[in-house]
Amino acid sequence: MRRPILVAFLAFAPSLAWATDFVGADVCKSCHEKEYQDWRSSGHALALGRLSTVQQRDRVCRSCHTMEPLEAEVSLAGVQCESCHGAGALYSQRYVMKDKVLARLLGLEDVRADTCTRCHTNDGPSVTPFNLDEKLKLVSHGHEPRTRGKAKE
Ligand code: HEC
Ligand code: HEC
Ligand code: HEC
Ligand code: HEC
Repeated sequence: MRRPILVAFLAFAPSLAWATDFVGADVCKSCHEKEYQDWRSSGHALALGRLSTVQQRDRVCRSCHTMEPLEAEVSLAGVQCESCHGAGALYSQRYVMKDKVLARLLGLEDVRADTCTRCHTNDGPSVTPFNLDEKLKLVSHGHEPRTRGKAKE
C-alpha cells in the first residue's frame, strides 16, 4: 500500500465533503457485530423513537436525539455509532479501518469528553451531573475507554 502518497494527497485536498457523510449503523454492523448488538439495545439507539411524533420533527430535539438531518431516511435515526466515532462514508472500508492513521485522516474520530458533552449538557433532563468516567464505561461495548477526565461544568 502506498500510504505516504495517499496521505500527502489528503493533506492538500481542499475539502472532503464525503468525510461528513453518514453511512448508518447497519454498515458498521457487517464488521462489528458485537458492538452493534450492544448499542442496539441502548438508549442511544432508541433516542429518537422515544419522542412523540411532534417532538421527532422538532429541530431542537433532533439536534441531540438523532444523527440524521430532517430529510434523511430512518436508517440513521437515534444516536448512532457515527455520533461518537465520526461520519463513516470514507473510513468504513476494511483496508482503511486497519490503518489507524489513514482511518483518522478519513473521518474516524477519537472519543473525547466533548464527544459526549455536546449532547450531555448539565442542563439536560437528568437530575444528576454527567460523570464522564462512569458513563463512558456504559457505552464502550466492552472496550477500555481511552479518554479520561471531567465533563465541562
Ligand atoms: C468492512 C469492514 C468494516 C466496516 C464496514 C467498518 N469497520 Fe470499523 N474496523 C474494521 C477493522 C478490520 C478494524 C481494525 C480492527 C483491528 O485492527 O482490531 C476496525 C476498527 C474500528 C475502530 C477502532 C479503530 C482505531 O484505530 O482505534 C472503530 C472505532 C471502528 N472500527 C468503528 C467503525 C464504525 C463506527 C463503522 C461504521 C461507520 C465501521 N467501523 C465500519 C472493519 C470495519
Ligand atoms: C443538548 C442536547 C439535547 C436536546 C436539545 C434535547 N435533549 Fe432530550 N436528552 C438529552 C440527553 C443527553 C438525554 C439523556 C439524559 C440522561 O439520562 O442522562 C435526554 C433525555 C431525554 C428524555 C428521556 C429519555 C428517556 O427515555 O430516559 C426525553 C423524553 C427527552 N430527552 C426529550 C427531549 C425533547 C422533547 C427535546 C426537544 C424539546 C429534547 N429532549 C432536546 C439531550 C438533549
Ligand atoms: C455513545 C458513544 C458511542 C457510540 C454510540 C458507539 N461507540 Fe463504539 N466506542 C465508544 C467508546 C467510548 C469506545 C472505547 C474506546 C475509546 O475510548 O475510543 C468504543 C469502542 C469501539 C470499538 C473498539 C475500538 C478500539 O479501541 O479498538 C469499536 C470497533 C466500536 N466502538 C464500534 C462501534 C460501532 C460499530 C457502533 C455502533 C453500532 C458504536 N461503536 C457506537 C463510544 C461509542
Ligand atoms: C448526539 C447526542 C449524544 C451524544 C454525542 C452522546 N449522547 Fe448519550 N444520550 C443522548 C440521548 C438523547 C440519550 C437519551 C436516550 C434515551 O434513553 O432515550 C442518551 C443517553 C445516554 C446514556 C443512558 C442514560 C444514562 O445516563 O444512564 C448514557 C450512559 C450515555 N448517554 C452516555 C454517553 C457518553 C459516555 C457519550 C460520549 C462517549 C454520549 N452519551 C454521547 C445523546 C447523546
